[in-house]
Amino acid sequence: MHGKDVVLDGMSITYPNGFTAVQPTDLTINAGEFFSILGPSGCGKTTILRAVSGFVEPTAGRVLIGGEDQRGLGPNQRPTALIFQNLALFPLMSVWENVAFGLEARGVGRRARREKAMELLDLVALKGHETKKPTELSGGQRQRVAIARALAVEPSVLLLDEPLSALDLKLRQHMRAELRAIQRKTGVTFIYITHDQGEALTMSDRIAVMNAGVIEQVGPGDEIYSRPATAFVASFVGEANVFEGTVASMEDGLAWVETPLGRIRGRNGHGLAEGDRAMVFVRPEHVGFVTPGRHFGNQFDAAVERRDLEGPFVNIFLRAQGREIAMHMPNEGDAGLSVPPEARIGFACEQALVLPEGALARTGKEIAAA
Ligand SMILES: Nc1ncnc2c1ncn2[C@@H]1O[C@H](COP(=O)(O)OP(=O)(O)O)[C@@H](O)[C@H]1O
Ligand SMILES: [Mg+2]
Repeated sequence: MHGKDVVLDGMSITYPNGFTAVQPTDLTINAGEFFSILGPSGCGKTTILRAVSGFVEPTAGRVLIGGEDQRGLGPNQRPTALIFQNLALFPLMSVWENVAFGLEARGVGRRARREKAMELLDLVALKGHETKKPTELSGGQRQRVAIARALAVEPSVLLLDEPLSALDLKLRQHMRAELRAIQRKTGVTFIYITHDQGEALTMSDRIAVMNAGVIEQVGPGDEIYSRPATAFVASFVGEANVFEGTVASMEDGLAWVETPLGRIRGRNGHGLAEGDRAMVFVRPEHVGFVTPGRHFGNQFDAAVERRDLEGPFVNIFLRAQGREIAMHMPNEGDAGLSVPPEARIGFACEQALVLPEGALARTGKEIAAA
């Protein structure tokens, strides 16, 4: 097996009802890459997969796989295979027959089918389970049967649409490592769709972050996390405190932003100029208490409102000038128990990222209320 590259060339998709689910997009996914598309529900992720697999045609632009324009080719004529959340294994067939299912239609004889199935079951670490029925397997094992079945037709590109979302947390975390290992062993290009940033960050070579039909940033996980390009990416991936304001002045790549909390100094991540509306993003793990031995480029007085223990971490919620500020501290045994009701807190200028004002990702609270 080998992977092929996938290119979206000015591709957009407008559904028959006139709704544009994917705005014109240019994207290159490299051959053999584990590539994730991360974004909230409804942002257009599945629509992109449908276009790559041939279930919808682009309204404008092209999909190229291995350099070849896919227009007019149906799902069975493309070098792709699709896996989604509802696996739909055949309950009356054995595991190996499930894996070999797609080969029969291609005229492969029973003996060769079985051989191929055994090879793939070995690959997904299910050797010895070949004669079982799907119901005799665990959720994670069934997921691996589905992957083996998709790989049986030797696709160059495997498209995975939130395949782990039906599994429980522990299994989901375990399957991340499994999927990653299978991808490495096969060299097939994986395009993995998820709304779960943990999945995207742990498995992917690169991630595209998508919002409302637009890919806002493409890059390796650490880059997306530490150098988000937009307000949406900064607020969707990881947690962030956000302070809105106006750029007051510039100095050595740092911008001073006038905010309700006072002037905040941060990295000018986006070539902002004096007078521009801006948002300053600070990760909760970068906020700390000011102590005689520890000072920060930005400091405020705040009232401590709440303290939540999360095992290895403590989340502390404070309020300053009417704004909530979240702080994450490692639990070093005392778990921040000695936090006074009033405290002086701060963060370094390098840990504050100044970006153009923009739409923020909805918080869990907002999603629950909607
Ligand atoms: N067949 C369709 N006709 C019209 N709108 C659609 C159709 N399928 C999806 N949509 C809309 O397109 C947007 C993107 O959908 P989808 O690609 O499924 O998002 P995601 O996979 O990111 O949750 C949503 O607003 C959805 O309601
Ligand atoms: Mg979807």
